[in-house]
Amino acid sequence: MKHLTTCLVVVSLNLGLASVALADAGEDTFNAKCSVCHGKDGKGKTKMGEKLKAKDLTDAAVQAAVTDEKMEKEITEGIPDKKMPGQKDKLSGDEIKGVVKFVRSLKGK
Ligand code: HEC
Repeated sequence: MKHLTTCLVVVSLNLGLASVALADAGEDTFNAKCSVCHGKDGKGKTKMGEKLKAKDLTDAAVQAAVTDEKMEKEITEGIPDKKMPGQKDKLSGDEIKGVVKFVRSLKGK
């Protein structure tokens, strides 16, 4: 029984680490592909961000208005009428999931 408990703890710790790793990779992706407009802090206070009126991604209301699925789709295909470029040819599905996770981690910052 004791062994089983240890085993479960190890498994859940690993799952925790895996999602942290995904968010870390997401931060690198965000800095490389998104920060020109959204800023490293996600607030959109960059020259490009202000010009294109990028929303403040740290704002809870902005976060609540969009599902993970919609975000993934927008990052993949872009938002043509707002001039946000799609990353279909540049990022893998996992990289896009990671960057969504990172965007979620900006909420309230
Ligand atoms: C060329 C500038 C630009 C780049 C690069 C860019 N975005 Fe955007 N992004 C925008 C603009 C403009 C909007 C629209 C803001 C609005 O809807 O008011 C937007 C909107 C968003 C939204 C909000 C979507 C919604 O439905 O509310 C998310 C999330 C987002 N971008 C994430 C990203 C991520 C992640 C990347 C990098 C992979 C990225 N963006 C790259 C300009 C950019």
